[in-house]
Amino acid sequence: MRLLVTGGAGFIGSHFVKRMLAAGEDVVVLDKFTYAGNPANLPEEVDCRRGDISIREDVDQLGPVEAIVNFAAETHVDRSILGPEDFVRTDVLGTLVLLQAAEQQSARFVQVSTDEVYGDVEPGWSSREDDSLRPSSPYSASKAGGDLQVLAAVRTFGVNASITRGSNTYGPNQYPEKVLPLFVTNALDGHPLPLYGDGRQVRDWLHVDDHCAAIELVLRQGEAGETYNVGAGEEHENVELTRLIVEQLDVDTALVRHVEDRAGHDRRYSLDTTKIRSLGWHPRRDWDEGVRATIEWYRGNRDWWEPIKRSSGFREYYDRQYEARLA
Ligand code: NAD
Ligand code: DAU
Repeated sequence: MRLLVTGGAGFIGSHFVKRMLAAGEDVVVLDKFTYAGNPANLPEEVDCRRGDISIREDVDQLGPVEAIVNFAAETHVDRSILGPEDFVRTDVLGTLVLLQAAEQQSARFVQVSTDEVYGDVEPGWSSREDDSLRPSSPYSASKAGGDLQVLAAVRTFGVNASITRGSNTYGPNQYPEKVLPLFVTNALDGHPLPLYGDGRQVRDWLHVDDHCAAIELVLRQGEAGETYNVGAGEEHENVELTRLIVEQLDVDTALVRHVEDRAGHDRRYSLDTTKIRSLGWHPRRDWDEGVRATIEWYRGNRDWWEPIKRSSGFREYYDRQYEARLA
């Protein structure tokens, strides 16, 4: 299958590209190479074009494809609080432009979305696909906007599109602004780990390999107009993840600093995954083993993350986000 993977130079997209190449698919990547897009995430032989999903000419330069999997997005909640415009442009308008291309080419379409569109979830409940969308951040509001464009394109224009809503994903090659790689690399550098608020927020953790397996399944077997939650049911508080990192790297607990909370911070995410499991998917990676292996990957791959953390772009962002919090 001739497959377009947008955002394929980012964290999850690059794992998906490698998975689909191993499956023998004919993959082309379209990526804007924002701060989060990294050529080092992909083997050199991958057919990778620079372009913006919100610009139709950039999408059309690729020629016809049989399927599109859309990973391209602005993805970091804290950055969306600092400046939301790019989130709306890419996550909403970019999704619309891709849907128009999919319609014209009669291509299968998978929108890679997030559990954050449901907003935070009360104890005792797990979000189902038909729950109402209550996004809390400019990021999740933009992803929800993208999801609604997908559903409208199915209904109005007959696009063969499905949505996946994955939970917090971890693994190698994740840009070190996200909590796990940020805390691991800060600990390895002897820098503070800035834990927001009381650190008792719950995230439902999913290994990137399991997330990609689910997206492939939905690409091949998902139904048009259907949404599929993807989560491993591994609900853990941020303090627990932080403790695991501190213990494994054997650093001083005094590095952990409770700092001013994220505005609008969702307390808990939790997904009901009955639907994707009924297609035959189940998570294979155990949380404790997967997180430990991921920590070891960052310990062993300084050449991947050090250039990012030493770059002026990262340092500017870090100071803006954390300087006052850590003062
Ligand atoms: P990432 O930030 O690591 O990568 C995003 C990629 O998209 C980068 O390569 C970037 O250059 C590219 N991109 C950004 N704007 C673009 C544009 N306008 N045109 C083309 N390319 C553009 O993201 P990630 O963590 O791998 O997330 C991938 C997708 O999965 C996103 O849609 C995200 O919302 C979703 N998701 C992520 C998680 C998670 O925990 N990381 C969980 C659930 C869903
Ligand atoms: O749930 C899926 C979502 O997971 C994806 O849609 C997003 O793209 C992805 O970024 C992730 O969002 P989160 O906001 O949950 O991830 P983040 O790594 O930013 O934060 C995870 C938790 O850790 C959250 O409760 C906030 C907390 N945190 C985060 C950072 C960066 C801290 O306490 N300190 C920090 O410095």
